[in-house]
Amino acid sequence: MTNRIIDDYKPLVEKALAKYLSFEPSLYDTVVEAMNYSVAGGGKRIRPCLLLEFSRLCGGNRAAALQMAAALEMIHTYSLIHDDLPAMDNDDMRRGKPSCHIKFGEDIAILAGDALLTHAFYTAASCSAAPADAVQKSIKIMAEYAGATGMVGGQVIDLQSENKTINLEILTTLCELKTSRLIETACVVGCLIAGADEAHQKAAFRYGHNLGMAFQIVDDILDATATAETLGKPVGSDKENHKNTFLTLLGLEGAKKAAHDYTNEALSALEVFREDTTDLKELTRALCSRRF
Ligand code: IPE
Ligand code: IPE
Ligand code: MG
Ligand code: MG
Ligand code: MG
Repeated sequence: MTNRIIDDYKPLVEKALAKYLSFEPSLYDTVVEAMNYSVAGGGKRIRPCLLLEFSRLCGGNRAAALQMAAALEMIHTYSLIHDDLPAMDNDDMRRGKPSCHIKFGEDIAILAGDALLTHAFYTAASCSAAPADAVQKSIKIMAEYAGATGMVGGQVIDLQSENKTINLEILTTLCELKTSRLIETACVVGCLIAGADEAHQKAAFRYGHNLGMAFQIVDDILDATATAETLGKPVGSDKENHKNTFLTLLGLEGAKKAAHDYTNEALSALEVFREDTTDLKELTRALCSRRF
């Protein structure tokens, strides 16, 4: 996937992550090593790149956006570490290497996830390059959308739906919570720290919501159709865990159509932005036809 947004922002995001995740040597180095191991390399960095792009579209300060973007990627990475644990999806590969619990053991993997989540809020709360009220509102959204009423809630529905058949309405809620919420966070926080008005925040939410849906549907499709080498994580995991996915409910063609429809809805949400959204539109379409 070559796209200006990813090509320009990804190296900046990785540098910021390394900076915000460097700690003094200590007796608890193992957990710091595990945090950096899971964060480093292999991730597409979609959420931080979207945060940076929405901040740019709204005339925001790059340093503030990078700090919030690093914080959000920490939350996302924690969600992946816990998602892979034996008690959850039990997947032994992530981002092209052994999952955190395979490399460090379950105990350290759980704690690395906990520490990434808490350090994300430390990083966000330390952001002094944007107005304090914008930082406070951003932190509130990050907490709400990552927690029980957001991503965690979606993961609960996902786990409790294993070995059952749920309807499309419940599957849609599951997906909105487990995946769209963190992507909405990226888009809305990008606007917020740039001081954007409510209309732009709402459009960013609508974009993130629909992109998030498309993103998870494609993830479900790839779990059944791609290879572990290209994905960097195991394939067939959903089937093995008897998950409900868009594929099981709609079939391959139905799932592809749903991903397209959500992508088009995401694209139409970008109309209110006066800055050039060509690159963002290109990225949005590329994510729908991505192979990893
Ligand atoms: C994986 O997210 C989990 C989902 C919500 C589908 P990504 O596909 O963004 O994972 P990385 O960050 O690129 O590893
Ligand atoms: C996970 O969805 C979404 C998260 C909140 C981590 P999946 O379980 O399908 O994600 P992958 O396929 O393991 O990345
Ligand atoms: Mg899962
Ligand atoms: Mg999983
Ligand atoms: Mg998946």
